[in-house]
Amino acid sequence: MEIQLWREILDPYRQAVDELVVKFNHIKYEYQMEGLYSPIEQVNGRLKRISSILEKAQKKGIPLDEIDGKIDDIAGIRIICQFVEDIKTVVEIIKKRSDITIVEEKDYISHAKKSGYRSYHLIVNYVVQTLEGPKELGVEIQIRTLAMNFWATIEHHLQYKYNENMPDEIRQRLLSAAKAVGALDNEMASVRNEIMDAQISNRQKNTVIISILNEIENLYRSANKREVEKIQDEFFKIYKLDDMDMLLKFEKQLDILAENYRAQSITDD
Ligand code: GTP
Ligand code: MG
Repeated sequence: MEIQLWREILDPYRQAVDELVVKFNHIKYEYQMEGLYSPIEQVNGRLKRISSILEKAQKKGIPLDEIDGKIDDIAGIRIICQFVEDIKTVVEIIKKRSDITIVEEKDYISHAKKSGYRSYHLIVNYVVQTLEGPKELGVEIQIRTLAMNFWATIEHHLQYKYNENMPDEIRQRLLSAAKAVGALDNEMASVRNEIMDAQISNRQKNTVIISILNEIENLYRSANKREVEKIQDEFFKIYKLDDMDMLLKFEKQLDILAENYRAQSITDD
């Protein structure tokens, strides 16, 4: 096939990969901006190489003019999570989106492949806007933990090295490594709760600090400036102590003070 024809077929897929990488990174960004733990740790995208497309088409007996639609991983997105539980969350996020339609779901986490491979796969439809109009494409989304990704990367290199003739001994070692990866992910699941707890208390602290700073700013407009500066100094002292109870107490005192000022300004009117 001519290079120009390949470009015509592949360019919309490239666009889909680029767009989806941006979109998934934005989900991560939104979590971070909210001060929340992100179920997405890392997003990668790749366009299948022409040589790999040819190889797959040949292996599956797909005529070259039918690859568009018959090979479902020309566009590939890989989402890496820290913990197994995050994978479910990512799938739920994808299900709620109006720009991605799930066509097929493969759960190689509950049911690992014979090789030991674990991952959650989605085949989805995604529409890109081209000069010729909208074009709906299939995209493969692989969702896995850091540990699963570690295993899959190494195993993939070995598969490539042995070109389908992997020695039994290596195969067995990979299987036991896959078991270790499963155990590691389970072990890590207990640490996840710790991270979530820390995150919630961090969030509470942020809320209190924002409310204190807002109150100080309001007071600065209506109350004696010197006094407010003193309050601000006091706040910085407490802030440095990093003690949530003291912050809450300070917030309450500030509320009472602000309330008094408000009452005063009403009677002054
Ligand atoms: P393909 O013909 O490979 O597309 O098979 P399929 O359509 O049944 O897809 P499957 O869900 O089995 O695999 C799709 C992709 O998952 C592959 O292209 C790999 O990227 C990955 N994958 C599947 N099995 C393995 C495995 O045993 N090891 C590794 N490293 N990756 C795998
Ligand atoms: Mg496939």
